[in-house]
Amino acid sequence: MTVKFLQRSIWQRIFGISATGKPRDESGWHYESGQLTIRLDRVPELTRSGMAVRFEGKSLPVRVLVVFGEDKQYKAFHNRCTHLGHRRLDYVPETETVQCCSVNKSTYKFHGDKIYGPAPGPIRTYPVEVGEGELRIRIS
Ligand code: FES
Repeated sequence: MTVKFLQRSIWQRIFGISATGKPRDESGWHYESGQLTIRLDRVPELTRSGMAVRFEGKSLPVRVLVVFGEDKQYKAFHNRCTHLGHRRLDYVPETETVQCCSVNKSTYKFHGDKIYGPAPGPIRTYPVEVGEGELRIRIS
């Protein structure tokens, strides 16, 4: 299978600068009792297909990458490459892959399996429930 690489500068790769932003409105999400809840009216970035947003901080125990793919399906990932640098991941548009922001570009399919790079194993994925204008992601 052909792997598509995000176009990033060598400096962005060396310093591990993610291409994916945090939500513009941090009040649009919260974490409680093992569940990340995202209000789509406050995080409209995730209503346009082909977009991704990263969630981290507050009381969230892990970094989470949420993708709204071109197929209009939501996917959520533990945003931590399994290679030893444990850098963040970015969605690669028009593919069903996410890719490490580092120089080595480990790349994973939407179901979590690694398909490229030095990472030793798959990434964790989380189920996403959609309803009542919210995304609900169980972190376990
Ligand atoms: S940290 Fe992801 S490939 Fe090295």
